Amino acid sequence: MRESGRILQKVLNATCARAKMGVTTRELDIFAESMIRDLGGEPSFKGYHGYPAALCTSVNEQVVHAIPSDYALKSGDIVGIDAGVYYRGFHTDACKTVIIGSAPPEVRFFVRVTKEALDQAIKQIKAGVAVGDISAAIQRVLERQGYSPVIECTGHGVGRQLHEEPDICNAGQRGTGPQLRAGMTIAIEPISAMGSGGIETLSDGWTIITRDRSLSAHFEHTVLVTETGAEILA
Ligand code: MF3
Ligand code: CO
Repeated sequence: MRESGRILQKVLNATCARAKMGVTTRELDIFAESMIRDLGGEPSFKGYHGYPAALCTSVNEQVVHAIPSDYALKSGDIVGIDAGVYYRGFHTDACKTVIIGSAPPEVRFFVRVTKEALDQAIKQIKAGVAVGDISAAIQRVLERQGYSPVIECTGHGVGRQLHEEPDICNAGQRGTGPQLRAGMTIAIEPISAMGSGGIETLSDGWTIITRDRSLSAHFEHTVLVTETGAEILA
């Protein structure tokens, strides 16, 4: 999984660097898929329950699972670039939200706070901690700034399968849920809405958007639980 994660980190960084005004989300997808394959991996998402692409590219009010398209990114957009790599039997999963061109301070702050929710969630992690401690950290960071955690989408175990137990909710109570053990690998993915947290699914069957059409941001790392903390794998 370290090797899978290293591939994913390279691909995600390179893809995010290419996310500029005028670039289509399909161009990002084609770039990412070919880089994954060049590095010896396979895209985890492509074919997963019929998903048609290597990336999810969720723009503005799109929350997660938006399919890359001919949409050309424009200044002020925020785009969640989510990717998974399968390498020698193991998956890793990660996402960053990128700001295109210039966006108002309140948008930049919203994206930064969602990243902070991921960082604070990871700080909770070590053997013996409850999954609810991760959920509570995400909820606390987002709600303190008036944002909403999107609770319909969860983090998850990850390894031989892309999605394994346990689910890691984006809100919850400390001390609840299963206990983490050293050696577990989990994908933590705070997903936030600038407004209220309700969602809808578009008729493509994949793209999830906010019901109030407020902006949504998403960050994700795959991490290894250790006795004393967490190691970021991707
Ligand atoms: N990070 C996303 C998730 O865990 C990636 C899944 S995309 C899918 O839900 F297309 F594979 F479903
Ligand atoms: Co995930």
